[in-house]
Amino acid sequence: MAETTGWMAQDWPDEPPAASDLRPEVPHPARIYNYLLGGKDNFPADRAAAEQLISLSPGIGAAARSNRTFLRRAVRLAAEQGIGQFLDIGTGIPSEGNTHQVAQLVDPAARVVYVDNDPIVLAHARALMAGPGHGATTVLQADLREPEAILADPRVRAALDFDRPVALLLVAVLHFIDEEQDPYRLVATLLAALAPGSLLILSHGTGDFDPPARVAAGTQVYCAATAQVTPRSRAQIERFLTGLELVEPGLVPAPAWRAESAEEAAIWAPGYAVVARKP
Ligand SMILES: C[S@@+](CC[C@H](N)C(=O)[O-])C[C@H]1O[C@@H](n2cnc3c(N)ncnc32)[C@H](O)[C@@H]1O
Repeated sequence: MAETTGWMAQDWPDEPPAASDLRPEVPHPARIYNYLLGGKDNFPADRAAAEQLISLSPGIGAAARSNRTFLRRAVRLAAEQGIGQFLDIGTGIPSEGNTHQVAQLVDPAARVVYVDNDPIVLAHARALMAGPGHGATTVLQADLREPEAILADPRVRAALDFDRPVALLLVAVLHFIDEEQDPYRLVATLLAALAPGSLLILSHGTGDFDPPARVAAGTQVYCAATAQVTPRSRAQIERFLTGLELVEPGLVPAPAWRAESAEEAAIWAPGYAVVARKP
């Protein structure tokens, strides 16, 4: 695994990432998404990429916010069902209602491991969790493309008991893994390590709801970024769910996942969402 930096909330390293690690001149998915959510943790290159996306799809900011709503609802559901352990891969820069905050509201003893390969995510997670009251929360820099290394990491093993159910979050991250990197194997490897009763909380970008030319143009925006985008069809996303039991309402457009109003369900978003249980 590449450089790995992890810590418990009470055990943060003193040194922030070097500025050169942040590569401000290259758009980063975490920072583009932060801008779309209305955040300030981004650089001009990220904002330029995000503005291109907005000009293609003016609703993309609302779509990003609805993805966060899905994340919060799914984490709360998992915690209310008694799952007290969360492995959140592709965490993103902390935003409103982060996984540990939602889970620990339901269960103050909930344990959360955040994993992201972008050093800016670690820098902000560190700032967020420097104070008291963040329970058992661990953050590490690692890559979804190396699931064996994540699973074997001693900090992950210390934080999570793999003999008991875990909620695995892969929220708006798998579309940064192209077909050649075999995302289906990566997900299957992670799921194989989890106990029965574990939940997969997944959202994924798709081109199913837009004209092909717009999908191609949106994908093109990420060509100069640190990670490119591979939108997937419903059938491709269903492959991630092989052998799992879908939790109501199944695999649906992300804003429609347990939407609280017809208006909410009708928000345009280029993504699907699902929660599925390992039998
Ligand atoms: C669009 S953000 C989603 C953040 C959060 N999960 C959410 O849905 O609100 C995607 C995140 O995945 C991270 N990411 C992309 N490729 C990754 C990889 N190969 N391994 C780990 N994290 C990755 C990015 O750095 C970014 O923080």
